[in-house]
This record gives sequence, C-alpha cells and structure tokens, in this order.
Amino acid sequence: DLGPYRYYMQKEIFEQPRAVVDTLQDVTSIMPELFGDNGWRVLNAVDSVLLLACGGSYHAALTAKYWIESLARLPVSVEIASEYRYRDGVPNAKTLVVAVSQSGETADVLGALQVAKRQGMHHTLAICNVPTSALARECSLTFFTRAGVEIGVASTKAFTTQLVALFLLALTLAQCRRRLSEQDEQRHLLALRHLPDAMTRVLALEPQIVAWAEQLTRRQDILFLGRGMHYPIAMEGALKMKEIAYIHAEAYAAGELKHGPLALVSDEMPVVAVAPNDRLLEKLKSNMHEVSARSGKLYVFADIDCRIMSGPAIEVIRLTEHHGLLSPILHTIPMQLLAFHAALARGTDIDKPRNLAKSVTVE
Ligand code: F6R
Repeated sequence: DLGPYRYYMQKEIFEQPRAVVDTLQDVTSIMPELFGDNGWRVLNAVDSVLLLACGGSYHAALTAKYWIESLARLPVSVEIASEYRYRDGVPNAKTLVVAVSQSGETADVLGALQVAKRQGMHHTLAICNVPTSALARECSLTFFTRAGVEIGVASTKAFTTQLVALFLLALTLAQCRRRLSEQDEQRHLLALRHLPDAMTRVLALEPQIVAWAEQLTRRQDILFLGRGMHYPIAMEGALKMKEIAYIHAEAYAAGELKHGPLALVSDEMPVVAVAPNDRLLEKLKSNMHEVSARSGKLYVFADIDCRIMSGPAIEVIRLTEHHGLLSPILHTIPMQLLAFHAALARGTDIDKPRNLAKSVTVE
C-alpha cells in the first residue's frame, strides 16, 4: 500500500524516522547483550574490527570505521566482501568480524564470512534487517535493524538503520574498553532518541531539493565531495544517483580533488558537497574554492549556522541542526531525495532500476 506516495522508495525515505524509533525500541542502555547472549564474552575478547559488506552497506560500514576508531579506539578495517573473499588476508583470531547486510542473503557477504571463519576468525556479528536470513544463522552475535520490509531496490531506511546499529556497536565497544562514562552514555542515548525528530526536519527540506534535482537531471556527470565521516555519505549519494537516475556520479574525499579529478571540473560538471559543521569544514571550503575557481557549479548541503554564502555559482541548503557524531545519518536523507527527484524528472523505473536485483544471491 503506497498511501500518498507514488513509489516505494519515496515511501521508504519518509518511513525513516519511524524505522529508527523501531530499531531503538529495546535499547534502554548501552550493553553488550544488545548484540546477543554472548555479547559480553565476545565483545570483551576482541582487539580489532573487520567490517565486510557490499554496495550501500559497504558505505554504512565505512562510516562505522570513523565512529569505532574515535569512540572505542579500536583499529578497524572495512572490506568489500567480493574482494576480501579472494584475497590472502592476514587473519587475527581476536578480530570481531562484522557482516553488514540488510537482506542477509548477499552471496559475497556470506562467502567472505566463510573465508574469515575458515581462517580462524570466530567472533562474528551480523547486522541485518531480516532475522530469518542465512547471515543471521551464520554469526555468533546478531543485531537486527527494524526497518520493516524494504521494497524499493535502492536501499534507504535499511541503510540509515544500519548506521544506527553501527553507532550502537561503536558505543558498546567503547563501553567494553572503559571509554564510555555513564554521562557519555546518557548523552549519546539522548541524541539517538532525538534523531527521528531531526530526520523529520530534514525530510521537510524536500521542496528545495526538488529544485536542485531538476537542474541536475540534465547532466551527464556529477561529482560528490565529502570529508571524514561524511565521505562515505557522499559515496552513498553518488551510488543512489547512478542506481536510480542513471546519471554517472563519482564521490571523492574532497582532499583528493587536486590529485586528479579537478581536471574534470568545468561549468559542465556540477559538484555536490556534503559540508556539515565539523572540524574539517574549513578544509572542505578550500576544496570548494578549487571548484569555483574552475567555474564548477556547487550544490552544498551545509548545517544551520554555517557561514557558506550562496552566490552565482554556489547554492546552499542548510539542514536545521547539527547533530554531532550522528550527522552522517541526517546528511544521508538529502542524498536520497536528490537522487529520487532526479530519477523522477528523468522518468526512470525508480523502484526497479534496470539491471539490478534487490537481493544479490549470486556472485
Ligand atoms: C544500494 C543497494 C545495494 C545494496 C547491496 C548490499 O542502494 O541497495 O548496493 O546495499 O546490494 O545488499 P545487502 O545489504 O542486502 O547485503
């Protein structure tokens, strides 16, 4: 039942505040048991983290690297599952292997997990939206997001709830390593509880985003820029644009611009920047100047009190609040809406993009 929406993807974008409420339903405090009965034993035994995933879930895993390293001070590596499974990795029996897959049926993720286990890595955690999935059966720990059924092939609410689950994992690992005071725990829980309201306010920016999408829809190529924990969000924005609007889009960590891709920038190449107020904003601003100096048109998603001014070649949409470490979750929403409206203007088959399947159960 689509209700007032034309597409499932659109409905699922707007279901995100509810999906986050549901995912947090049983979370009253941070504790290892959130991840299963063996949570305490397993999460206290690990000295590093390896995240395995594909596609959008890989971007969620990349974001988690920033959170886990910063909060828990554990070394984290993130691997594309289809690469990891055929590489001679160096196993460490004390690594927590986290398989991130909303369907829990992605063949490459299951294959990569088998490889890790065969190499002696038995501390495994599935972050998954489907409790009955193969992945859930294969892992010693589980965390189930409660996004509800996702029908649109392009993942939206499953992605943002994966981020919530991964943030909880970062907090829990920090707690196990005595790096989370009770005060910090309460502060982070409060921020998580407030997230659905904050997301609702971002969704209300839709009319402004529609106007940008209509300009972008005539383009062949788009660059997405981000820095730090928002670089994976820029990657997710570019993936969505390719998947449903069929516009070629690439994401770069903004500091990499001058190492090559700047050569592509001209008045023909629009650049979307994810530019929240964080410690990298000043750096990102200088990267944006590099774009303006080459006549590239900038579309900037900033935060409320950010001093980036609109001008002839720079447009700015401000999110209504800055939400600290949870900012990547809020900044995902405009990426989804931008791709959705570009696809709508192009008249593509949004819920079933050509050549793609919802669950990739073959290699
Ligand atoms: C992106 C998308 C895909 C999936 C990928 C992994 O919108 O939907 O890139 O994220 O196929 O799927 P799961 O999470 O089911 O393993």
